[in-house]
Amino acid sequence: AASAQLAGAQAGAPATASATSATLTIVYGSQTGNARHVAEALASLAKAKNIAAKVVDLADYKSSQLKNEQYLIIVTSTYGEGEPPENAVSFYNFLFSKKAPKVPQLKFAVLGLGDTSYEFFCKTAADFDERLAELGGQRLQARADLDVDYDAAASSWNNALISVVEPEFATAPSAQVINWPGQATTAAPASQYTKQQPFAAELYTNQKITGRDSGKDVRHIEISLAESGLTYQPGDALGVYFENDPAIVAELLQLTALEGEAQVTVANQTLSLSDALTSQLELTQSYPAFVEKYAAASANDTLQQLAADKTALRAYLTDRQIIDIVRDYPVSQTPISAQQLADALRKQQPRLYSIASSQAEVEDEVHLTVAVVRYDAFGQPHTGGASGYLADRLAEGDKVRVFVEQNNNFRLPANDDTPVLMIGPGTGIAPFRAFLQERDARGASGKNWLFFGNPHFTQDFLYQTELQGYLKQGLLTKLDVAFSRDSAQKVYVQDKLRKHAAEVYQWLEQGAHVYICGDANRMAKDVHQALLEIVQQQGSKTAEQAQQYLDELRVAKRYQKDVY
Ligand code: 2AM
Repeated sequence: AASAQLAGAQAGAPATASATSATLTIVYGSQTGNARHVAEALASLAKAKNIAAKVVDLADYKSSQLKNEQYLIIVTSTYGEGEPPENAVSFYNFLFSKKAPKVPQLKFAVLGLGDTSYEFFCKTAADFDERLAELGGQRLQARADLDVDYDAAASSWNNALISVVEPEFATAPSAQVINWPGQATTAAPASQYTKQQPFAAELYTNQKITGRDSGKDVRHIEISLAESGLTYQPGDALGVYFENDPAIVAELLQLTALEGEAQVTVANQTLSLSDALTSQLELTQSYPAFVEKYAAASANDTLQQLAADKTALRAYLTDRQIIDIVRDYPVSQTPISAQQLADALRKQQPRLYSIASSQAEVEDEVHLTVAVVRYDAFGQPHTGGASGYLADRLAEGDKVRVFVEQNNNFRLPANDDTPVLMIGPGTGIAPFRAFLQERDARGASGKNWLFFGNPHFTQDFLYQTELQGYLKQGLLTKLDVAFSRDSAQKVYVQDKLRKHAAEVYQWLEQGAHVYICGDANRMAKDVHQALLEIVQQQGSKTAEQAQQYLDELRVAKRYQKDVY
């Protein structure tokens, strides 16, 4: 119908061979929302040029559509050891399977978002890019692989792409503009506060919820969103900006022989070096670009050599924060300027925490479960950026800059009768506290089963009273805990799953949704493996059939992960 309309509209218009009724399909693979934001920015540019465009979460992209697709733009991050982000897994597997169609009709472009600190920088983007070309697609523009500080580069890549496609869409006056984050847009009114313009929220509570003898410092944080208009749903994350430790800022100034009052420009803003180091620049993570730029500015040959060897550099950067590098290589003969230091540092990225509360229960508050990063290395104590700020430097009543990052790929079932299986060891408990509050408030009748794990029962049973209360009240149908270090042999959540294999499978067969939150590299993989085995044994299936069973659950959004 759309093409018929267009043909009609064109009858009276000058004939142009390149006119098209096509839509620019912009898909994103994202776990943190960055790729989604870039995809949406691209769609807005397209819209401004009257180019029909739609933005689709890769989890919602119909693979069968690919053979008809004319314009496909992929914006994607990469995860772990070069793996696609969770919402891109199904499409990725499809593309690399025998089912992938030839796509001679397709014009495409891929934009990668990543972090140069990782060995497999932007690998998923490269994989998509190469595979689509192999399947016969034509590149509209070369792929770009962008580092953490991607804003400016993403916007020029987007602009360049629009200039490339614009002539092909130019004579389609009736081109429909479909700006379609689809179900991504919730009914809630948009707040004026965003990642770009965070809300200065009051910290209500900062309470340590691990015991005195615990090896971990985990905080229950409560923040007020009053007057912000910010709303969230269980499954969403809170973005948190932070201030660096003033002692570290002072030491950095001293080691670089710079004055804190010196004026610098950061992201088109002029401010003092001291303020920039405190609240604009990233000091608690380290990254290759800093070493390269700092080595060059301070004319340090040893450091320049190190910067040139990527493998050695990655090993060197492990556990080092910016201050460790400058302690190792303080400025001596060649002074560096305040602006050079600012330019060598990347812009602070807010940290995302899975929200641990439901507004149905806490109204205009938001709760977090924060593991404070603390470790000794190179003879010095180290603290994480946002976690150290929340735990150590922010007093109750102080303001912290926050925003809500929605995550449509971690959502309770719409149907309240649906059973829910939640696997969340450590701070992975956070979104499940939100789920339970929500289901409680809704009076949802579906069964709820939680698997929680941590080192010691007496020290690390996060939210013990609440969870046991929920069990008693019947909101939690089952609660299984794995305290890994209380017994001679370690017990993990996946051991508890295996122990209840028959019942877990029964829940799946009853339509349960399964959620995993927490450590991505080991835990989530081991739990996935345990689920495969359970499905295989209990369902009398082959390994491939079990794999397919879980794949189908994922496509049906019944198997969701929030892992990091
Ligand atoms: P551990 O530290 O005793 O090894 C939260 O961090 C809990 O997850 C801890 O009890 C931790 O146990 C456990 N854990 C560590 N590795 C895990 C894995 N691969 N799978 C599941 N749980 C794991």
